[in-house]
Amino acid sequence: MRDKLQAILKSAEEEIKIVTSSEQLDEFRVKYLGKKGVLKEILKGMGKLSNEERPLIGKFANETRENIEKHIESMKERIKSIELENQLLKEDIDVTLPSSEINIGHKHPLNVILDEIKDIFIGMGYKVAEGPEVDTVYNNFDALNSPKDHPSRSLSDTFYINEELLLRTQTSPVQVRTMKANNPPIKIISPGRCFRYDELDATHSPMFHQIEGLVVDEDVTMADLKGTLDLFAKRLFGENTKTKFRPHYFPFTEPSAEVDVSCFKCGGEGCKFCSNTGWIEILGCGMVHPNVLEECDIDSKKYSGFAFGMGLDRITMLKYEIDDIRLLFENDIRFIKQF
Ligand code: DAH
Repeated sequence: MRDKLQAILKSAEEEIKIVTSSEQLDEFRVKYLGKKGVLKEILKGMGKLSNEERPLIGKFANETRENIEKHIESMKERIKSIELENQLLKEDIDVTLPSSEINIGHKHPLNVILDEIKDIFIGMGYKVAEGPEVDTVYNNFDALNSPKDHPSRSLSDTFYINEELLLRTQTSPVQVRTMKANNPPIKIISPGRCFRYDELDATHSPMFHQIEGLVVDEDVTMADLKGTLDLFAKRLFGENTKTKFRPHYFPFTEPSAEVDVSCFKCGGEGCKFCSNTGWIEILGCGMVHPNVLEECDIDSKKYSGFAFGMGLDRITMLKYEIDDIRLLFENDIRFIKQF
């Protein structure tokens, strides 16, 4: 038995020399010292030994075990330092390498222009109001004096959610919400998304942006409307900009007008930018129709107001000479970064 134990120690000492990793060392430990290990197998034979032999062999077996444990311990230390060294080699950091580029975003051109427009109106004392993109048919049409047979109400022009709800076709329903929730004086602009059943092409998009404006107070006149929008045009397009009010029809204003600004490219001479007319149309406006005021519980004998609505996408495209509206919604950072 003593010979067998000696043989085990010898083979263990040989075997441990070729151990190179913690996993291998673990396997080695299980093989020699584990519950079903080589040493345990030998010790099963202890019972057959004589009373004199047993303690001697027992002692020798313990020594053998301790020996193997010592080998394992010292191997463990060596492997630890080898593995640490390997890991450090693998994780070697070269501080001279350039760092990977951090990609920061860029303000969208629509937001650049929206912020400019907001600043202009906030500077004139306006507040910014918000309204939902899904609104009632009532707020979008009926309360705005739009007759039941108006073509814009048709299924082929408007996205309906059901009979009472739709994706708003304009920001004008915010007028209704604001007037119903507040007493005059009212002075707001309201930017936001609108939706119409339009085929997507270079100049049309089923989703687009408008900025609504509304002023209601005592003695508000068409002169206030013209003065406000003229100042706005000068601030946005330059001090030399002229404005022209062309009579038009909107159901919720009377009288109504469309506003053109003198072409900021050619100064009104006529160029390809303004189709040689010298003028560029930028918005619709008018005096709030008494029917709309009354529908919103505002006394149309005491109060009057003006309203306007402009297309943010169109104005942005004009200012930056962008010729395809789709570029605004594709969110290609290479495009957006140019503004
Ligand atoms: N909502 C109109 C449109 O989408 C634009 C508009 C015109 C708004 C006149 C107004 C306004 O507030 O007074 O075409």
